[in-house]
Amino acid sequence: IMNMVKPLLFLSSCVFTIVSATISLKYDTIFSFGDSIADTGNFLHSGALTNTVIGSLPYGETFFHHATGRCSNGRLIIDFIAEEYGVPYLPPYLEIKESLKSKGDHGVNFAVAGATALDPKFFYDKGMGRTLWTNNSLSTQLGWFKKMKQTVCTTKHECDRYFKKSLFIVGEIGGNDYNYAFFVGTTINDLKRMVPFVVGTIVTATGMLIEEGAKELVVPGNFPVGCWAAFLSSFGSQDKSAYDANGCLKSHNDFSKYHNTQLKLALEKLRQKYPQARIIYADYYGAAKELFHIPHHLGLKNGALSACCGGGGPYNFNNTARCGHVGSKPCKDPSTYANWDGMHLTETAYRHIATGVLKGSFTSQPI
Ligand SMILES: *[C@@H]1O[C@H](CO)[C@@H](O)[C@H](O)[C@H]1NC(C)=O
Ligand SMILES: *[C@@H]1O[C@H](CO)[C@@H](O)[C@H](O)[C@H]1NC(C)=O
Repeated sequence: IMNMVKPLLFLSSCVFTIVSATISLKYDTIFSFGDSIADTGNFLHSGALTNTVIGSLPYGETFFHHATGRCSNGRLIIDFIAEEYGVPYLPPYLEIKESLKSKGDHGVNFAVAGATALDPKFFYDKGMGRTLWTNNSLSTQLGWFKKMKQTVCTTKHECDRYFKKSLFIVGEIGGNDYNYAFFVGTTINDLKRMVPFVVGTIVTATGMLIEEGAKELVVPGNFPVGCWAAFLSSFGSQDKSAYDANGCLKSHNDFSKYHNTQLKLALEKLRQKYPQARIIYADYYGAAKELFHIPHHLGLKNGALSACCGGGGPYNFNNTARCGHVGSKPCKDPSTYANWDGMHLTETAYRHIATGVLKGSFTSQPI
């Protein structure tokens, strides 16, 4: 199981009906940083992999009806957040950087599939550098933001006015830092030593955005990856006690919780340092865990554990026939699945998480 050629990363609809027209005009612009959970096309545009499966159907089949570079069948959490505030779907920075002024005036997405919070150097020093899908880590994304900022405002007064109605979403990021390590066989105990570095990087980046003028920031935590088809098929156990009541791997979920606890503590310190900013923690873990806790109640007729698109095996995750590769096929009705391709979720699942964050109780304070 450890002989994976490439580590599995966070890489790789339905018609929106406005039931009650409650679009909030709170934010004019949204800026997003992160990995494949939020990437709306940067990885694809970066050309890091020429034949990446996310550049073709069935990726994108449900909502956009063509591949956009999103690692899902349809919209992502960030797309639902944009809809909520009446902001257009965020254009990927690498696609619009030449014409930012005309195209990025409602925000920009800097997230890149495969991105890590830590700089590539960390992974090169540990001998894992060649497993990285992209070098566009969080610090690169911040550099892009600074470049973009020059096109929207110059004086502090101008920038303050511009960013007053901007929402910054810093993540999810950091999941891949652990994924790369998990899939080359690093133990959970060893991984725990990485957590302070990953959390420190996320919190430093958040502070830097505040220094640059950000006033409203959402920092999401990590997901219950122990419920992910790719983890379940790669780290499965004969021992029933390794699983929780929802069939998820306890140890991997506990690790995500450990990261989240450290992140929340660090954000609390950041709030004391920057009382002028609203630093909101988004509990992606809790919002996502509901999918696995009450799948049938949420219309996930096939349960939440198996991937919709895959090449067979117990969780429909086959590492030699991953979604988009020969031997795989997508399910008939992705809206009845939570997991899309083993590592990423379906539009249905992302909508559920977005709703939990925007309207439910899964944030430290309302967004
Ligand atoms: C990342 O940078 C290293 C060192 O410059 C380079 O060798 C490698 O090809 C880059 N990786 C990607 C995915 O671009
Ligand atoms: C996984 O995919 C390979 C390649 O298509 C195939 O030969 C194998 O039978 C599949 N395994 C399962 C368990 O379906």
